[in-house]
Amino acid sequence: MEDRIRKYLKEVESFSGNTLQEIEEFRIKFLSKKGLIAGFFSEFKTIPPDRRKQVGQLINQLKKTVTEKITVLTETLDSDTFIEPDLDPTLPAEPMILGSRHPVSIVRNEIIDIFGHLGFTISEGPEIEDDDHVFSKLNFPPNHPARDMQDTFFIRKGFDEHGNNIDILLRSHTSSVQVRVMEEELPPIRTLSPGRVFRNEAISARSHCIFHQVEGLYIDEYVSFADLKQTLLYFAKEMFGAKTNIRLRPSFFPFTEPSAEMDISCSCNGKGCNLCKFSGWLEILGCGMVDPNVLDYMKIDSKKYTGFAFGMGIERIALLKYRISDIRLLFENDIRFLKQFRSAL
Ligand code: DAH
Repeated sequence: MEDRIRKYLKEVESFSGNTLQEIEEFRIKFLSKKGLIAGFFSEFKTIPPDRRKQVGQLINQLKKTVTEKITVLTETLDSDTFIEPDLDPTLPAEPMILGSRHPVSIVRNEIIDIFGHLGFTISEGPEIEDDDHVFSKLNFPPNHPARDMQDTFFIRKGFDEHGNNIDILLRSHTSSVQVRVMEEELPPIRTLSPGRVFRNEAISARSHCIFHQVEGLYIDEYVSFADLKQTLLYFAKEMFGAKTNIRLRPSFFPFTEPSAEMDISCSCNGKGCNLCKFSGWLEILGCGMVDPNVLDYMKIDSKKYTGFAFGMGIERIALLKYRISDIRLLFENDIRFLKQFRSAL
């Protein structure tokens, strides 16, 4: 046994493995549970007592030499050996995949940013609302079709013992936040309310039952329709490019008088394309001068103050801006679609 140990001692001293794998094989051969040194220790019992001290020292010497050898070889191993043979460190690194914002968030942030430059601050309201904030205080007559079960998701419907409407519903537009702001703030008011809205509509390429709107409200002395027009022209140019024109068509909303719908010029320059259905114009929002009735409900002096309001669908703006043909793409969370959008905002 002593001779065998001495033979291995020589082998260990002359060993010069120069890859990690060789060193590991060397370690396993000597130091693993079933390795040579473990074998010698179990053979040790058979050694006559008078030889034990010497043999024991020899086995320990072998173990020490192996351990030292492994340390030295591992330390002096050239760092190149750690690199996999087929790896080329001069190649450019694998790109890191960064997340991107959802197009609806990008457009919402852009809208907030544009109106932010005009001094509009953000206000928010609840998604579950009452009839007052969504309809009554916005001058919707009691039997207005927009209150119909077809359009609005009602949570509770009814009247209390005094005949007051106690409907609870999912807000069908962010105009409800106008009411909340007017309840709490005195003019001048200049606020923007982005948020989620709900309508009982069939889901198709053009409409969804959940979508997002941004509401704008500006109330002060001497606010005129010209201010509204100029504000929206500025917005359109910032959002869709400096060459964009706007056109206002008379319309009706219960809470504005006069009311209008705004179109922007299509990027086909009036030549006509599928997007604008060959009209050269794309409808993007509703707007108008705040109806004095609304101001009176809110106890804002309508003789002193005037205001304008506007409301737009964020998805609609995103579809037009990015020329997306189907609104459902904005709700499916398909990474292949979403990763195409990048933004600084
Ligand atoms: N709330 C309207 C809608 O959902 C949009 C709207 C129109 C908002 C005119 C306004 C406005 O503030 O003045 O269709």
